[in-house]
Amino acid sequence: MVSKPYNWKDGAVLEEHSRRKHKILREYFRRYILERCKNPLSRHFRLAIVDGFAGAGLYRDGEQGSPLIFLSTMLDTVAEINVSRAAEGMPTVELHCLFLMNDASPDAINLLRSNIAPLVHCAQQSGSGVELETRYECGKFEEMLPAFQTAIKSAKCGNIIYNLDQCGTSQVTLETINHLMSSEKSVELFYTYSIQSLLTYLNQADPESVRRNLRHLGEGIDWREIPDGLVTKTDWLGSIERLVYEVFRRCAPFVSPFSIHNPDGWRYWFIHFATADRARQVYNDVLHDNSSEQAHFGRAGLRMLAFNPEHEKGSLYLFDTTARSAARQELPDDIARLISEGGDVMQVSEFYRSIYNQTPAHSDDIHSAIMDNSDLEVITEGGGERRKAHTIGRDDVIRLKKQMSFKLF
Ligand SMILES: C[S@@+](CC[C@H](N)C(=O)[O-])C[C@H]1O[C@@H](n2cnc3c(N)ncnc32)[C@H](O)[C@@H]1O
Repeated sequence: MVSKPYNWKDGAVLEEHSRRKHKILREYFRRYILERCKNPLSRHFRLAIVDGFAGAGLYRDGEQGSPLIFLSTMLDTVAEINVSRAAEGMPTVELHCLFLMNDASPDAINLLRSNIAPLVHCAQQSGSGVELETRYECGKFEEMLPAFQTAIKSAKCGNIIYNLDQCGTSQVTLETINHLMSSEKSVELFYTYSIQSLLTYLNQADPESVRRNLRHLGEGIDWREIPDGLVTKTDWLGSIERLVYEVFRRCAPFVSPFSIHNPDGWRYWFIHFATADRARQVYNDVLHDNSSEQAHFGRAGLRMLAFNPEHEKGSLYLFDTTARSAARQELPDDIARLISEGGDVMQVSEFYRSIYNQTPAHSDDIHSAIMDNSDLEVITEGGGERRKAHTIGRDDVIRLKKQMSFKLF
């Protein structure tokens, strides 16, 4: 698979689809910092960011690339937190960040150093709330990784964000993703995967070439799942796409393979891997705020992957108003069924853990579906009953009522 090299020296052009991806990255990273620093007692937060395919940081039209997006969002968000903490007479927070930036192109890295310098200077000012250590490296990401991991270990950072914005499909192997996701307790990884360029090169009539093109997915592929015999090309490609998704889904407890439609080129996935259900919840909500940018296959309720391809072929969850109203219809029954599968009660934190690798739904829709369902009640730790959807907490319990209108079996 051949990908177009970036010409950073003459000014790379920022394509519309990358602009949308950047918007999601920026909004998510802001929400990530707000979430991780939300406890008013916390005064320090340690984070390592590895931007493995960093580019030069600025595009021809002056728009920021991923490394500048990370740093400018970090400065703005820490300032936002500290202004509101000061207003409430609370102590400020300091974010300690080890920021590793890498690219295989020496041009990209040289330009990046100067493009990001003004923001690094802002971080170095007293009162910025950010203590920053930057490292610029030039090499192939997978070859550089051992050195990055050593640096993260010696900086004692337990929270890590990887941004692996590769071109194509095979510059970061499945083995590497598995390894990174199990390296620390709190790891999140953004991964660009050009699903359509993979599918375009597959030849149904040549099993050997199929094996070659899917080799980067290593042991993860279950070759028996690839249909042979008389299936149409569309069905065959559909099953390969699901198979690839299944492989990625096993890499982390929470995985969302949202598609970005590139009108002038190939559709690709911007996959978010996370170890915490809360991360996936926030990511779902950010995607709803950017509803026209991506789509997901599957149905709208809790088990978006449990759809019947015969009946619902091509049905997409588009994160828009129509998708949300379909979700609101499906969620109440799905949730009651899920609770009943384990008995009649489930703690909200456990409920989140069991749904967030399955559902694209907005957290507000999930909470309303629980609250509006006459078969369910939410009980607080103190034994009281919750009345408002937005007050549902992780330590609450969802309980099936004794008199149910809903038929479980
Ligand atoms: C899609 S661009 C990155 C864009 C950047 N993340 C942004 O948001 O502006 C991909 C970059 O990967 C670099 N690259 C290609 N192969 C690489 C590899 N094996 N390891 C690291 N960087 C690589 C290219 O030089 C290019 O700058």
